[in-house]
Amino acid sequence: MRGLGAVALILLGALRAQTPVPDPVVASQQALVQRYCIGCHNNKLKSGSFSWERVDLAHPAGHAEDLENVLRMLHAGMMPPPGLPRPDPAAMKNFISSLETRIDEAAARDPEPGNPRLHRLNRSEYRNSIRDLLGLNVDVASLLPPDDMSHGFDNMSEFCASRPR
Ligand code: HEC
Repeated sequence: MRGLGAVALILLGALRAQTPVPDPVVASQQALVQRYCIGCHNNKLKSGSFSWERVDLAHPAGHAEDLENVLRMLHAGMMPPPGLPRPDPAAMKNFISSLETRIDEAAARDPEPGNPRLHRLNRSEYRNSIRDLLGLNVDVASLLPPDDMSHGFDNMSEFCASRPR
């Protein structure tokens, strides 16, 4: 009997070592996608040219662009399309914040800022450039319109189309 027990323990140990521990957060994200999105966003239909089948929720870093699109649509309340079954607001909020957290964590582990976009000089940068290049002090406040603020910065590059109004 003792021998059998030992064998059973060893077998159990081997089983546990082989089965990856499922991540409950990822599992619940997948469940929501399966229930509310996959019917349209699969490799066959690819509604909006987007398929969830190419996104591995366990490794969000490799799918940042798709997931940013997803977050944009969800924040705007545009998906699932109006009239179709959608998660209750609490579940949707959970899904969104868990996605954001996982993306942020992945980005913090492996920061990849990409190339800076070209951006227009703001007023102080313009004033300093003219001063450095031409030795002139220009009164930017009277010459140029005030700079837009975005996330507390006035020198962010941003597509106009995505700027919140
Ligand atoms: C009944 C079909 C249907 C369901 C269900 C659905 N979508 Fe969509 N989705 C569409 C269609 C159609 C478009 C394209 C619409 C457009 O571009 O105006 C789209 C567009 C999108 C896009 C934009 C793709 C891009 O890059 O522009 C994203 C992201 C998206 N859906 C995410 C989701 C998510 C997340 C869910 C589930 C919570 C979901 N959708 C559920 C039909 C669906």
